[in-house]
Amino acid sequence: MKKMIDLRSDTVTRPTPGMLAAMMAAAVGDDVYGEDPTVNALEAKAAALLGKEAALFVPSGTMGNQIAIAFHTRPGDEVVCEAMSHTYNFESGAGARLASVQFRPVQGQRGVLDPAAFKAALWPKALWLPRQSLYVLENTHNFGGGAVVPLTRVRELTAIAREHGLRRHLDGARLFNAAVASGVSAAEYASHFDTVNICLSKGLGAPVGSVVAGRTEDVAEMRRLRKMFGGGMRQAGYLAAAGIYALDHHIERLAEDHRNARRLAELLAASPALSLDVSVVETNIFFVDMTPSAKIPAAEWTRKCRERGLVIDPVGERRVRFVTHLDVNAEDMETAARIALESLG
Ligand SMILES: Cc1ncc(COP(=O)(O)O)c(C=O)c1O
Repeated sequence: MKKMIDLRSDTVTRPTPGMLAAMMAAAVGDDVYGEDPTVNALEAKAAALLGKEAALFVPSGTMGNQIAIAFHTRPGDEVVCEAMSHTYNFESGAGARLASVQFRPVQGQRGVLDPAAFKAALWPKALWLPRQSLYVLENTHNFGGGAVVPLTRVRELTAIAREHGLRRHLDGARLFNAAVASGVSAAEYASHFDTVNICLSKGLGAPVGSVVAGRTEDVAEMRRLRKMFGGGMRQAGYLAAAGIYALDHHIERLAEDHRNARRLAELLAASPALSLDVSVVETNIFFVDMTPSAKIPAAEWTRKCRERGLVIDPVGERRVRFVTHLDVNAEDMETAARIALESLG
């Protein structure tokens, strides 16, 4: 069977043989009773890596973010975030349904908020205004094209949030991509937030799972919310073992995904039918816009690519997202570029 190069997302990876072996060998117990040693070990490891007191293993990034939102807010509150944030746009409206909050999206630049724009979106306190109780920052920013929110900006934005009495949650689905790309540790980024969510099933290559970390008493309350949201799992150690393996073996190698993304972007940028700024490709995600000289729309381009072995998805009529990950290598980038360019005509 022809190898398909799937660059739709970094969630498409399969466990490596080493990861599968770790999963098979996991010691397990009933995690709702707190008796799964491997889940407990994953939570302790993630908390230490993020510089937090405690952590909670959850089935998905969406659940991690939504548990944090529900924990930090009361019904009717407003959550402030960047306009293209995952929590606001791509979590099936969960904030409105599960926590009964509304969002105040503020337009950023490649997902990075300007402090003045952020300040302008903050309400004074008044009876008739929504209570703004939480600020959510996404790093790296998925729809910002994998942009790293620099530490200096994180400091500025979280300081403004703190001054206005807002709690701070970090959607760090790809926090380790930000850490590897910038040389700033995940714990340093996380230190500016009350809670942080990291995904094990994206660039880190685990099949399932995320971890939310924070203060011990906050995590205890979020554990209750996890059960309420249906995320209490039993012998989850088989999955947690994959997470431990991912944290031990797959963080430093994210640099390879970043190099592959940059190389692919450079190859694609050579075509007059495509528009992209290679200099902003910092991590493993980038977007390509089709110029007027491209004769076909994105849906047709991606369909032709798929027939030739490259799987990519349109995210607009003339826009496509590319994401590199553990299951593709440098050689695949050359093949992917060739297929993508050939399929334009
Ligand atoms: C930035 C960000 N946050 C959260 C999530 C949600 O993760 P999950 O798909 O595991 O629910 C994603 C998923 O792509 C994401 O990109």
